[in-house]
Amino acid sequence: MTYNIAIDGPAGAGKSTIARRVAGELSFIYVDTGAMYRTIALGLLREGIDAGNGAQVEAALPQIQVSIAYRDGEQQMLLNGENVSGLIRTEEVGNMASRAAALPCVREKLLDLQKELARTHNVVMDGRDIGTNILPEAQLKIYLTASADTRAARRQKELQEKGIPCSFEKIRDDIIKRDDQDMHREIAPLMQAADAVYLDSSDMTIDEVTEKIKSLVNV
Ligand code: CDP
Ligand code: CDP
Repeated sequence: MTYNIAIDGPAGAGKSTIARRVAGELSFIYVDTGAMYRTIALGLLREGIDAGNGAQVEAALPQIQVSIAYRDGEQQMLLNGENVSGLIRTEEVGNMASRAAALPCVREKLLDLQKELARTHNVVMDGRDIGTNILPEAQLKIYLTASADTRAARRQKELQEKGIPCSFEKIRDDIIKRDDQDMHREIAPLMQAADAVYLDSSDMTIDEVTEKIKSLVNV
């Protein structure tokens, strides 16, 4: 039987950074489900399809093939066979992902891939509905959050390091809007699973959060 760790939480909480670290230190696979939604979003953007039009999205999905590969232990996202890992990190794609993720047909498309990875590997999987919906039997569930100001400041720092100028207010507004969409959709909304450990990382370093989660693992 595999050991699965589910990490859910809002945008910029530190999920991917922490999940990658914990997975590396435990020799588990890190599965980034947000990247899968982002890949579908990129496919829709390329086709010029609006996520607000569910019927159009559903009709386009068969032409949007999403698969993953691992290169040097890093998850790579393939869209119709093309490695798009470097193209899915923009705010435009993130916002489109959040809108598309509210559609049942989009979630359905990724369900089997996510479940199968956890069935066959020890994983640290992060997203919005992993503990509540995808891996309800996960041995450890974490709900990782931080204040909106902290999360926006982290995102701003990331963008500045890449040389991309951006206003703090715009980033904060985008984050709040995306959280709102993710928490209030009908299907698989972002919420803490009843048996998840709540962790507010606003005043915690990456090392501290990693150690805390590792201390909860009972392999
Ligand atoms: O995956 P998610 O959107 O939840 O967040 P992330 O991309 O892992 O983290 C956003 C930024 O916050 C990254 O630049 C991390 O290095 C930083 N971070 C931090 O400064 N302190 C933490 N305790 C966790 C993340
Ligand atoms: O890195 P960040 O936290 O900004 O977002 P992400 O994890 O890359 O996810 C992008 C979007 O995909 C989220 O805003 C969610 O709407 C959606 N998503 C989801 O609905 N369910 C998941 N398990 C993962 C992501």
